[in-house]
Amino acid sequence: MNDSGEFWKKNSKSIYYKIKDFSCVSDRLIECLEWPDSIPTLSIVFNTPIKDEHLILKNKISDKYSARLVYFNEKTEIIVPKNVDLFPNLRVKEDVSIEEVRQLYLSSVMQTFTEEFPGKIPEARMKFSENVAQNYLSVEKSFCLELDGVDAGILTMVGITDYNEHPIECVNWVWLKKDLSLNARIYAQYMIAMWLRRTVYERVNCYVDSFNLRSQKFFRRMGFAPKCLIIEKRV
Ligand SMILES: CC(C)(COP(=O)(O)OP(=O)(O)OC[C@H]1O[C@@H](n2cnc3c(N)ncnc32)[C@H](O)[C@@H]1OP(=O)(O)O)[C@@H](O)C(=O)NCCC(=O)NCCS
Repeated sequence: MNDSGEFWKKNSKSIYYKIKDFSCVSDRLIECLEWPDSIPTLSIVFNTPIKDEHLILKNKISDKYSARLVYFNEKTEIIVPKNVDLFPNLRVKEDVSIEEVRQLYLSSVMQTFTEEFPGKIPEARMKFSENVAQNYLSVEKSFCLELDGVDAGILTMVGITDYNEHPIECVNWVWLKKDLSLNARIYAQYMIAMWLRRTVYERVNCYVDSFNLRSQKFFRRMGFAPKCLIIEKRV
């Protein structure tokens, strides 16, 4: 193995390379790797722990590409915040219907894409989210929060396979209302971590856009670590 990437495998969706040193990721590395036009994504797998992923990707991958990190964790390694103050008005929404889950999922996705990251999310992603909402979300694997009767957060999970073709649960969306106070936020993180520890079967992952620093920090706080970078060409 060397830092110019070692071919691992390919299928119709992705071609996979392994690298040792994440800091060598760059446009130049991508352009040196064989990546047939017929394969939509390039996956770069790194099994050594990394840090500063946000900065590295910001400095080294240009707007020609969109990049997403895949973070992983084991159920038993999910970090639950300690010494958390109870925030009594923030509650888990009981007896939510699948329609309510779909509606909150789609409205928070749409709000984030348009208000927080305008122009940054590939167009196909909204269609993808609509498909996920209609066909993959379930009440059992969704966690909804309300504050004084108003929607305040949602986390949804779906079953997928990882790059080793092993079954894994994927946190495919998390959102916390922007105006939550820090105490409410930390209590929400506590409830989410406890729920994940109860609900995840064994292993869990999530896909985070390279520019979404808040989300990267959120998953890092809960003990998730990135192990794979997925690159797409922007059209
Ligand atoms: C991703 C998300 C759920 C993370 O929420 P969060 O962990 O509460 O973190 P946020 O960055 O939103 O928190 C806001 C502030 O509280 C601070 N904060 C949050 N949790 C904290 C903690 N446990 N300890 C100290 N400070 C904390 C943050 O540092 C941030 O401060 P800043 O604005 O000065 O940087 C939230 O940012 C969100 O809903 N984003 C939009 C949807 C989205 O992008 N989802 C991810 C899809 S992969």
